[in-house]
Order: sequence, then structure tokens, then C-alpha cells
Amino acid sequence: MKRLDNKWALVTGSSRGIGQQIAWGLAERGCNVIVHGREAQHLEATLAGLKKFNVKTHIATGELSSPAGVAQLIEQAKAAPGPVDILYNNAAVMSKYESIFSINQAEWDRVFQINVWALIAICQAFAPGMRERGYGRIINLTSGIADQPNLVVYSVSKAAVDKYSRDLAAEFKGENVLINFLDPGWLQTDLGGPNAPGKVESVLPGALVPALLDNDGPTGRFYGAQEYKDLER
Ligand SMILES: NC(=O)c1ccc[n+]([C@@H]2O[C@H](COP(=O)([O-])OP(=O)(O)OC[C@H]3O[C@@H](n4cnc5c(N)ncnc54)[C@H](OP(=O)(O)O)[C@@H]3O)[C@@H](O)[C@H]2O)c1
Repeated sequence: MKRLDNKWALVTGSSRGIGQQIAWGLAERGCNVIVHGREAQHLEATLAGLKKFNVKTHIATGELSSPAGVAQLIEQAKAAPGPVDILYNNAAVMSKYESIFSINQAEWDRVFQINVWALIAICQAFAPGMRERGYGRIINLTSGIADQPNLVVYSVSKAAVDKYSRDLAAEFKGENVLINFLDPGWLQTDLGGPNAPGKVESVLPGALVPALLDNDGPTGRFYGAQEYKDLER
């Protein structure tokens, strides 16, 4: 099993759902984890699950719907005992289900603030340190959602994540800071809903693949977590 001993990872939105699985999966490989949710009390289950892996943990909170909340998360994550080597930008929200012709500007602003502007600010906060230290893995959560006009706000926010990730990867070309985007698959979470075909646990081990890349590995590319079901856990 490839290990991540002594590395530190920040997983935004790791209080539940896919982020929680990713936090546990990283810890199983020895990685120290900075967990994030909107409130500290939301993180109890994740922290309880991390105990058995004997890794270090640190808590960062912040409501990503405002720049002040994003700044709070960044400040608290930077106060961790180690620098962020691996960053999963996982926290996101679904948009309201409504006609593509009646969606208002406020809804575009709400979803883009959380799914895009917060993600960009977090990359800006941590990618330069990765460059200085000569190591970094950034994994931005995307979606395979397609042909859902009533959810266009969410799907366009994820298209923006893909494009931003590609361009950020180009900025780091030839350096050991690899930026990729990950589709977890449609899974039963609060966001995915009860009718999703997959269990949340199925995001592992595939979700870890872009964090475990060797130096000079792929960058600026799409990963599908469900494509790695047979990978050693
Ligand atoms: N589930 C799917 O089928 C699916 C499919 C494709 C892509 N994805 C992507 O996978 C990622 C995780 O999704 P999920 O299904 O695990 O979602 P989820 O179960 O709804 O969990 C969302 C996480 O994000 C945090 N979060 C939500 N709104 C926030 C805000 N305004 N400020 C700060 N944190 C916030 C939550 O923290 P609190 O607990 O504190 O609220 C929680 O930890 C997302 O990027 C999503 O777009 C999911």
C-alpha cells in the first residue's frame, strides 16, 4: 500500500459524505488530516473515525458562502502543525432545481461563491507554499452531471472547476505540484440524494489516486473515482 506518512492534507467539507471518506482514506495511509466543516461540532464523527489510524488531526471551520468564512478556514488551516501538502477542495453545494429560464442572479452568485470562488481562494492560499516546498497535490471535486438543465448552475460551477484546475496545472508545469479534478461518481450522500446508485464508501480507493501520484505524475487531468474499484486498499 502506498503511504502518505508525515504528509498533511486539508479536506474541505470532511464532516460528512465524500469528504469524510477521503479524510479516513488518507489517514489509513498515514496522512495527517485537517478536517473542515462549517461548525466544529459537525466534525465529531469524522474525528472519532480518524482515531484508530493514529494520525495527527487539526480542525478548521469556515462558512464558504462568504469571503470572511473562506478567510477563516484558510487562517485556521494554516495554524495546523504542518503545512498543507495535499488539498482536496471537496466542499460544495447543489443548486436549486428550477427551470433554466427562471434562475436568478442570486442563485448563480450563491453557488459560485461556495463551489468556485472559495475553491480558487483556497488554491491561491496553499499552492504557493507547495511550490516553495517542491511538493503538492491538489484535487478539486468535479461532477459527471450532464444534460440536466434544471441544475445548470451546479453543472456550470463544476465546469468552471475543471477549467480552473487545468489552467492552475499549467502554471505549475514541470514542478512537483500536481493539480487534478476528480468525479466521485453519483453517490448516496446529502448532496447526491437517496436515489444515487452508489454507496458513499465506493469513492475509495479511487478518490485517493490523484493524491498518491508519483512525482512527475499526471497533472491537469480528470480522474473518475469509480474507475479504480480494483485498486489495492
Ligand atoms: N454525492 C454525489 O453524488 C456527487 C457527485 C458528483 C460530485 N460530487 C461532489 O463531491 C463533493 C462532496 O459532495 P457530498 O455529496 O459529499 O456532499 P455533502 O454530503 O452534502 O457534504 C457537503 C460537505 O461540504 C460542506 N459544506 C457544504 N456547504 C458548505 C458551506 N457553505 N461552507 C462550508 N462547508 C460547506 C459540509 O459541511 P457541514 O457538514 O458543516 O455542512 C459537508 O462537509 C462536492 O464537491 C460535490 O459537488 C458529489
